[in-house]
Amino acid sequence: MKNKKWLVMMMVATVVAFSFGIVYKKAPTNQFLGIMNGREPLPIPPLLEDKNPASGQATFHLQAQKSTTSFLKGMETETYGYNGNYLGPVIKVRKGDQVSMKVKNELGDEQTTVHWHGLEVPGDADGGPHQPINPGEVWSPQFTIDQQAATIWYHPHQLHKTGEQVYKGLAGLFYIEDEVSDRLNIPKDYGKNDFPIVIQDKQLTDNGDIPYQLDMMDLMHGIQGNTILVNGAIDPYLEVPKGKVRLRLLNGSNARIYKFTLNDDRPFWQIGSDGGFLEKPVKMNKIILGPAERAEIIVDFGNDKVGQTIDLVDQEKNVMSFVVKDEVAKKTEIPSKLTDIERIDPADVTTTRSFTLQGMGPMVNINGKQMDMNRIDEEVPFDGTEIWEIKNSGMNHMMGRREMNGPNGMMGGRGMSGPHPFHIHGVQFQVLERNGTVPPANEQGWKDTVLLFPNEEVKVIAQFKQKGTFMYHCHILEHEDAGMMGQFQVSD
Ligand code: C2O
Ligand code: CU
Ligand code: CU
Repeated sequence: MKNKKWLVMMMVATVVAFSFGIVYKKAPTNQFLGIMNGREPLPIPPLLEDKNPASGQATFHLQAQKSTTSFLKGMETETYGYNGNYLGPVIKVRKGDQVSMKVKNELGDEQTTVHWHGLEVPGDADGGPHQPINPGEVWSPQFTIDQQAATIWYHPHQLHKTGEQVYKGLAGLFYIEDEVSDRLNIPKDYGKNDFPIVIQDKQLTDNGDIPYQLDMMDLMHGIQGNTILVNGAIDPYLEVPKGKVRLRLLNGSNARIYKFTLNDDRPFWQIGSDGGFLEKPVKMNKIILGPAERAEIIVDFGNDKVGQTIDLVDQEKNVMSFVVKDEVAKKTEIPSKLTDIERIDPADVTTTRSFTLQGMGPMVNINGKQMDMNRIDEEVPFDGTEIWEIKNSGMNHMMGRREMNGPNGMMGGRGMSGPHPFHIHGVQFQVLERNGTVPPANEQGWKDTVLLFPNEEVKVIAQFKQKGTFMYHCHILEHEDAGMMGQFQVSD
């Protein structure tokens, strides 16, 4: 009799303990800290938004400053940041906004500039090397946002110093929204189901420093680090709701090219390229991003179990992890159509120009010339439509052999000649051809930077609707700083 009672009590206790176990597993607070084993959550930069959107006027304050950041636990690294210690806020504007920027240089002893990469504004507001801001001074450009919804970015463009200033932390994202992004039922809640993802690599020393000292290898290929940071954190994790999540990827690295996949090889949908939405989402399971390129992708975590971990990987190397939390995402979709992209008509082209990217190390050049502030390389008529043919000569001067290069070559893509991401200021262009054929579907939208591996050739078409002096250059920042840059002037 007594024993039986005991048995029942034991069974009850077991059931209670078991259900407590389940309850415990479902506890929503910090539930993944254990799983994530001391890893840092993904930092989400503050959002700088227009406080009074109805007015159509927006003023933003940015301050470039020096500070320290703790990349490695217990160690402080000297870094630069905008309005903070590393990177900058995400600036958000709407098409049609009249924007006033107030950019203060608090770096102490060096000039800087702020360039709006991907923004179509007149040359004097572009923030290139012709608009230096002296220490302690404020630069106040004003411009109107006259382009479609996109994820663009901002960073310094100080002559010969861009690589160093970006490397130390000066960069931020810049979102443009419009009636198309309003209308689409895609994830768009900042920091909830729409996340900024800035990927960079650093050469971290044992005591946590990121000295910008270039060795021969860095001069050749640009600086490539031993550590990948996402929004300034090493291998962080991000808790995501069950459902669709949008990632706005920026390769903010000085020189590294990434080949991203998810560790279980699940597909994702690219919805945007550098300059805005693609016409239709492109389903893919791998994406290559060269320096300065952006991609907006949607990943679906709707069929994952709570607590499931999915990794973002670059060629076997973990970049960050997503952990599915016990929260259902707002219901959004992957629309079958995103927007209309009006094709620029090659019949309107008045001029075709050629740009050959060549040389190596400190000799890198475009068409045999290196950057000269006092020389305009190309005169472009205002409102003109042009085709620019860009060619990565792929010449291997040391070895004279092409098979050493390329992603599959003996040098694993790090041969004597390398890839070059070519960027044009002041316009968004369309890629007409890559190596003589139609570009892949995810390159058929608006672009401002196009990646060329050795011996590749692309044709892009653009209409030049902004006046002034602009740059075109390789976006491997060590190549840019070495002179792989030229100037074009748009005028009547
Ligand atoms: Cu992202 Cu000329 O720059
Ligand atoms: Cu730019
Ligand atoms: Cu280059």
